[in-house]
Amino acid sequence: MSSGFDFDHEVNREGTHSVKYDGRQSTFGKSDVIPVWVADMDFAAPPAVTRALAERAAHPIYGYTLFPDSLYEALLGWMQRRHGWTIQRDWIVMCPGVVPSINAAVMAFTQLGESVIIQPPVYFPFFSAVTQTGRKLIQNPLHLENGRYTIDFDHLEQCARDAHLLLLCSPHNPVGRVWHPAELERLLRSQQI
Ligand SMILES: Cc1ncc(COP(=O)(O)O)c(C=O)c1O
Repeated sequence: MSSGFDFDHEVNREGTHSVKYDGRQSTFGKSDVIPVWVADMDFAAPPAVTRALAERAAHPIYGYTLFPDSLYEALLGWMQRRHGWTIQRDWIVMCPGVVPSINAAVMAFTQLGESVIIQPPVYFPFFSAVTQTGRKLIQNPLHLENGRYTIDFDHLEQCARDAHLLLLCSPHNPVGRVWHPAELERLLRSQQI
């Protein structure tokens, strides 16, 4: 395989303190369940990632680290190549993960007591990012028709009257939708927030 990726080899994660496998006993009271309850990886990381981490780990001091120019260049290049999107370096804010970023965005873009729309069923930290930061939760449930989820735009427009922010999940977990450009354009048009 020229890319070095290996999607055929099963990697055993048991006994590595993995939430997905070793957490089955505490989560379900037994260990012989197929762990599809968490979106955690079963394929090996790309070799380039493993190599870079191993090189870094070979230096014995794990101190505070700057964000070098090469990191910004990699991010700008990825956005351009992958998404055709030219972004500015000063738009980038480093964050330790998606969930802390959602929480930070809620606090940055709304005030205490203001309202935030989410579109359930949705990944559970979307709820807590609103409720645990003292904001009001407005739910705009997705609409299920013939096995496919869509946005209820009429209801969204009502919700948007009282809200200050919408947390868009894209691609949507758990419904598996990648929003179509026409849906995203309509979403933008229907927002009065
Ligand atoms: C919609 C969504 N956002 C964020 C995350 C967590 O992302 P990360 O752990 O990379 O910060 C998940 C994990 O499943 C997710 O489904």
